[in-house]
Amino acid sequence: MKKLWGGRFTQTAEEWVDEFGASISFDQQLVLEDIEGSLAHVTMLASCGIVTEEEAELIKKGLYEIKEKAEKDELSFSVELEDIHLNIESLLTEMIGPVGGKLHTGRSRNDQVAVDMHLYLRNQVEHILDLITEMQKELVTLAEQHVETIMPGYTHLQRAQPISFAHHLLAYFWMLERDKARYIDNLNRINVSPLGAGALAGTTFPIDRYLSAEILGFDSIYENSLDAVSDRDFILEFMSASSILMMHLSRFAEEIILWSSQEFQFIELSDSFSTGSSIMPQKKNPDMAELIRGKSGRVYGNLFGLLTILKGLPLAYNKDMQEDKEGMFDTVKTVSGSLKIFAGMIRTMKVKSAQMEKATQNDFSNATELADYLSAKGLPFRQAHEIVGELVLICVQKGCYLKDLNLEEFQKASALFEADIYEALEPKTAVKRRNSAGGTGFSQVYHAIEKAKECMK
Ligand code: ARG
Repeated sequence: MKKLWGGRFTQTAEEWVDEFGASISFDQQLVLEDIEGSLAHVTMLASCGIVTEEEAELIKKGLYEIKEKAEKDELSFSVELEDIHLNIESLLTEMIGPVGGKLHTGRSRNDQVAVDMHLYLRNQVEHILDLITEMQKELVTLAEQHVETIMPGYTHLQRAQPISFAHHLLAYFWMLERDKARYIDNLNRINVSPLGAGALAGTTFPIDRYLSAEILGFDSIYENSLDAVSDRDFILEFMSASSILMMHLSRFAEEIILWSSQEFQFIELSDSFSTGSSIMPQKKNPDMAELIRGKSGRVYGNLFGLLTILKGLPLAYNKDMQEDKEGMFDTVKTVSGSLKIFAGMIRTMKVKSAQMEKATQNDFSNATELADYLSAKGLPFRQAHEIVGELVLICVQKGCYLKDLNLEEFQKASALFEADIYEALEPKTAVKRRNSAGGTGFSQVYHAIEKAKECMK
């Protein structure tokens, strides 16, 4: 088959060479964006008198027909035609005749592919933002039921201080809120039109780049035609924001895995988000959480892949840049899938409140309470810390916990201890009293839930 760019060539490439160079197997995902870009371009061409209104109408009619077929999955593409752009142009010309060839006036595949990706990512980022909000809603709904459910809070994975389970859940809400802010900021660079930059230098035709940008809903145009066709920062930013999001999901996934283990027993995942073992009948594995933890790896990989592809590329377009797409598609798919699964996992998991609470009873996570108790009575905190450390040591030696010591033993350590010390040692009291802004105290958590709901409006 003669290539669309065949004029200069005397020989055709062999099929396996074509195959290596082609992107149609993956860039066909851009079919609708490619058509949208072309519709805007031809509207602009007609408005600037570069093609006639009749020609533009014919071209648009053809494009709409192709779009309809694409939506019904009725198009078949050819590898010889390399990519989605040449495939569509060829389908169009087949359909409406040589006038189809006028569509490419004043543009190049280099600005065309860039437009497609800007349009694609705009849609996908908006979808991902919705998915994040869905997951945040699940977190808030669960948090509302568990403000006064207490659990051990950890540092170094050692029990540190008791906290409200809702407070723990809301920590992820705020991480996701930052992820959203990063994507929203990313949209500022996505929403810029490269269309009309041509191959690299602009065009001799009297085009109106502002008009095509406006039709496509872009906020502005690239100021420099070389930059317009060479820039993939907006994809890198998307991949960075996605990497951070996946890191958050991966940390949460790890906690879900720990919490559903026999050792913790803080939650039970629903059957629909777990799997069994082919050999051990008792097993219920948190596969989905593990997969999300694992999939963060491929999202980081996609980011590093693209950074490496772009490193050292001279301006402007280089074919290396065709390698930008698969990682982008894969990141979109992985992030969207992980968010959906996570929301479902949270919605359906059973929280074992009693088990969580029990875990706060038999440990030393109330030791800080004792130190705070003493320093509230005027003892410098460092001294209080020392005294409580000694009490903990006594307990360890006796094989008991702080609440098991009698008042005499407390008072031997410090005369400041009084009978109300037992109340202060209650984990629930400890949580309730941490009422500093952003702390785990119940009234703070109720307040945080209201704030979180505000954010989702
Ligand atoms: N398939 C190409 C890509 O994805 C489109 C741009 C091709 N431009 C060119 N001059 N070969 O990057």
